Amino acid sequence: MSEGHQRADTKLIFIAGTLLFVVSIMAFVQEARPEWAEAQDEVRRIVTERLGAERAAELPTGLQQIWVEETNRVDRCITCHTTIDWGPELADAPHPARSHPDIPWLGKHAIEKFGCTTCHGGQGSATTTKAAHGEVLHWEEPLLGETRARSYGLSGAELMEMRCNQCHLHEPKVEGMPLINAAKDFVVAKNCKRCHTIFGEGATRGPELTRIGEKHPTAYTFPKVWRHPRTALHWHIEHFKAPNDVVPNTMMPLYDLEGKMAEGLSLLVLSWRRVPATYIPRPRLAR
Ligand code: HEC
Ligand code: HEC
Ligand code: HEC
Ligand code: HEC
Repeated sequence: MSEGHQRADTKLIFIAGTLLFVVSIMAFVQEARPEWAEAQDEVRRIVTERLGAERAAELPTGLQQIWVEETNRVDRCITCHTTIDWGPELADAPHPARSHPDIPWLGKHAIEKFGCTTCHGGQGSATTTKAAHGEVLHWEEPLLGETRARSYGLSGAELMEMRCNQCHLHEPKVEGMPLINAAKDFVVAKNCKRCHTIFGEGATRGPELTRIGEKHPTAYTFPKVWRHPRTALHWHIEHFKAPNDVVPNTMMPLYDLEGKMAEGLSLLVLSWRRVPATYIPRPRLAR
């Protein structure tokens, strides 16, 4: 046998050996059940306990997902939140078995068309709790849940208004968005357009704000003595409360802001970003 052949044989044996190794590792990993399967077991246990084995048999198994065509996004939240549409029977169950709160206007947002992340944020395609809830590096749309909301002094529903208004941007008043409704009134009352261009109208003494929600978090400059985590939302809240502390010598006026107005204004400006036009409700005539 020539030396060349021998080398080729050694190579083949090496490749076969490597393949065998990879296959056995894969078998081992599959033995350890994925987190989502454990979550499904937990939901099944709760449903069996509360509603009986017959109802538990209705539960889906395997990965579940909603494909949102307009945004080409896949939301797999329902892989763990399998009983999200089960209504009052599971309204007080622990997560992820708890059903969705029954909100009167929710029906206007068909789950097949909206998925979950359009309102909640988070990483739709992920299948572990941490990754799905966006608690990972390099994911810029974390779940707007209770824990995160508390760090801004807000409730989960208040924080979520930022997402609601990505679509409801042209309506002056929308149910379920109290902070942003008040902020929209404030922007009109204080005539922010005397310095800023917003949706094609206004002046250029300050920066254009129409798509300010798309400004990358790393594009913000934080003062040396900054106390909060360096998020865009904290930046805007502090900037509205005391513009001069964040941007020295700014022309931006110091407003007398009551209640949660600084938070509301910040949620409002961060909601100003592009979404697919098919999502935008048709403008209503002002009453
Ligand atoms: C791998 C399973 C799993 C996936 C996938 C998952 N979740 Fe969860 N979810 C959980 C568990 C477990 C809890 C309760 C513990 C916790 O909050 O971490 C929970 C809690 C929640 C809560 C309530 C907690 C809060 O902070 O308000 C919300 C809202 C939520 N999930 C939304 C989502 C959304 C939206 C997605 C998809 C992007 C998603 N989940 C995907 C397992 C999952
Ligand atoms: C149109 C917006 C919208 C969509 C779409 C939506 N939700 Fe929600 N969701 C809300 C609002 C608003 C709340 C109430 C938040 C509150 O009051 O704290 C909520 C509450 C929840 C909660 C309870 C949080 C808690 O702390 O008790 C969970 C879990 C949840 N949603 C999961 C989902 C999942 C999973 C999907 C997709 C199947 C989904 N949601 C789709 C708006 C939405
Ligand atoms: C992805 C886009 C989108 C998001 C996000 C969204 N909505 Fe909507 N919403 C719509 C569309 C589209 C309609 C239907 C409008 C219609 O029927 O004319 C609607 C309808 C509504 C209605 C009924 C309004 C009416 O007058 O009929 C309310 C209230 C509402 N949404 C509140 C919210 C709240 C609160 C949130 C956030 C938790 C939210 N929406 C998130 C697009 C969105
Ligand atoms: C007298 C002019 C003036 C008025 C009135 C004014 N601003 Fe400003 N604003 C500025 C200037 C100049 C800047 C840029 C320097 C800075 O960031 O402070 C700015 C910055 C901002 C930023 C940050 C933009 C970025 O690039 O991150 C936001 C958001 C903002 N203004 C919102 C508002 C809102 C909302 C109102 C009305 C309630 C308002 N401004 C009224 C002059 C003004």
